[in-house]
Amino acid sequence: MSKFWKPGTERPRLLDDEEGGVLFYSASPISSSGYGYANMEKQRQRLPVYKYRTAILYLVETHATTIVVGETGSGKTTQIPQFLKEAGWAEGGRVIACTQPRRLAVQSVASRVAEEMEVKLGEEVGYTIRFEDISHTDLTRIKFLTDGVLLREMMDDPLLSKYSVIMVDEAHERSLSTDILLGLLKKIQRRRPELRLVISSATIEAKSMAAYFSTRKRRHGPAENMKHGPSTEAAILSVEGRGFNVEVFYLEDPAPDYLQATVSTVLSIHDREPMGDILVFLTGQDDIDAAVQLLLEEAHNSRYQGLIVLPLYSGLPRADQDLIFSPTPRGKRKVVISTNIAETSLTLEGIVYVVDTGFSKQRFYNPISDIENLVVAPISRASARQRAGRAGRIRPGKCYRLYTEEYFLNEMSAEGVPEIQRSNLVSSVIQLKALGIDNILGFDWPASPSPEALIRALEVLYSLGAIDDDAKLTSPAGFQIAEIPLDPMISKMILASNGLGCSEEVITIAAVLSIQSIWVSARGSEKELDEAKLRFAAAEGDHVTFLNVYKGFVQSSKSAKWCHKNFINYHAMRKALEVREQLRRIAQRLGIGLKSCEGDIQAVRKSVTAGFFANACHLEPYSHNGMYKTIGTSQEVYIHPSSVLFRVNPKWVVYNSLVSTDRQYMRNVISIDPSWLTEVAPHFYQHKQPNPMVH
Ligand code: CDP
Ligand code: MG
Repeated sequence: MSKFWKPGTERPRLLDDEEGGVLFYSASPISSSGYGYANMEKQRQRLPVYKYRTAILYLVETHATTIVVGETGSGKTTQIPQFLKEAGWAEGGRVIACTQPRRLAVQSVASRVAEEMEVKLGEEVGYTIRFEDISHTDLTRIKFLTDGVLLREMMDDPLLSKYSVIMVDEAHERSLSTDILLGLLKKIQRRRPELRLVISSATIEAKSMAAYFSTRKRRHGPAENMKHGPSTEAAILSVEGRGFNVEVFYLEDPAPDYLQATVSTVLSIHDREPMGDILVFLTGQDDIDAAVQLLLEEAHNSRYQGLIVLPLYSGLPRADQDLIFSPTPRGKRKVVISTNIAETSLTLEGIVYVVDTGFSKQRFYNPISDIENLVVAPISRASARQRAGRAGRIRPGKCYRLYTEEYFLNEMSAEGVPEIQRSNLVSSVIQLKALGIDNILGFDWPASPSPEALIRALEVLYSLGAIDDDAKLTSPAGFQIAEIPLDPMISKMILASNGLGCSEEVITIAAVLSIQSIWVSARGSEKELDEAKLRFAAAEGDHVTFLNVYKGFVQSSKSAKWCHKNFINYHAMRKALEVREQLRRIAQRLGIGLKSCEGDIQAVRKSVTAGFFANACHLEPYSHNGMYKTIGTSQEVYIHPSSVLFRVNPKWVVYNSLVSTDRQYMRNVISIDPSWLTEVAPHFYQHKQPNPMVH
């Protein structure tokens, strides 16, 4: 490679196994499509977990909890549920569940398994993610779902009684919902000795997990225990690795712009290296779209014509997901530009080169300021190793790290911090309350959250009227808020709209807020996008603007052409419509009347305030640069340039979320009248009277 690079000394762990490698050496990139059943069966048998089939089934039979550790791509997710089904765990109407932290992974592995079993997706093999249920109450035997959805299912069925085995997959990620789920499953096990847990993880930090699941006191003596049920000690099984060596390269000097560095690295691989697909790890949709666009511009250049550039992030439409998995045509080279979803959740065949920018989007929460941010932050060394490992799937590969070796060794942390220790816990705490766990501080967590974050969550729930003085869920408000599968602040906004006569509008807003963005990201045509936004812009703010977009979309008969003309993301709008329908159904079930305010925007603004009063801010009186201060904690915040209120700067606003770049920016902002704050949240504002006299 160019003089940019120097070979590193680091070898990714779990990649040194020679044994299984030979089998795959001559295999060209394999894809699911176009292969008959026999081939699919052969493919299954070649996966490392296949050799452990008997061992896995024996351990599950004899242990309440089995922990399976195996490198990404070894077949844990797609094979273990099938083994369990073949062994009879889904007989008698029972269901095998397999959870994933990510929605896209759920969809993708479910369709893969349905294909392998030659059944129609949604029947014997199904999946459920929030707002999308492709499963059948009677037919589905293997069900993939997000860990968040399984938590929700506990509200109707606290012991998850229809499941015989629950496989908690990707446990190494330590996502917030995974940890809460593990805590609750441990409790369920005590009540349901026949339930089996399989915890699967791509890394070897399984010991602490095993200890967590083995601390249970035995009620009977050991002999009796054996007679009556499975061992309560957790078993650990390690599926040996099978990847090829991956040569790691580092930058000699830090890259000033990782997007540019990404693009030039990809082009230089394409120029100099033999065929083989490239996987790039970037941070989020914005970055990814930008990189795709830059590469596509280059791909017009005849020199780079062999490049097929594809984005991969959650929320990607199904058709685009399929492209990721379809085989690369001969003579072409696929470049997949992904979030860390491709780190361990999804295995792409055919990858030989990995470009790792060293960053991912991570949640950070400060319970003192009560601010949660999604920030681009350095990954851990463990993640960097996982990413590198993706290059060694079909033959020895290469990984280009867009940072220095020194940075890797001295700056990156060894492991990531569990998400539960860096998240706002409002949603989790209300769910635990709804499940009857009253002593939140005494809950047996797999990793303890900070007491400050827990207390903060209780305070917020109290101010929303969801819990009472004894920290018990209020009836009906608390139960209703818990029931709506959205952030409690958004749920509260919907509840408030009932009394204000604008539930139709507010549900539309909630649906749009649940979508990442309804605008087409338009690098290079920002001006046109701004002009398009102006066509819908409402003086009151972004929420009302969403209503205008929604109205326009419906009036256009939901036309894709109309969306294209207005820089609106058609798929996002379709999704918003679907979510809206589901929310309307939930609202009706909860006794919220569906009513339109017929243009009484004040009612809508009040409803938003009723949910988001804690995010109220006022413009600093002598600020010339649009600086706001939050009422609660006096943080400096600014309106995000993407907001229709950017540069408009009304005196009082509430916002939905903050993003932090060079400053703290408020996203989705609406102007309010400060007198509403005491009206909708007397509890919250009784000590911090917002002073309307500041202006
Ligand atoms: O869970 P783990 O990382 O251990 O492996 P897996 O996801 O079960 O993947 C096993 C095999 O299935 C790999 O060769 C994947 O490439 C393949 N697979 C696929 O072709 N399409 C999918 N949608 C999912 C998996
Ligand atoms: Mg997996």
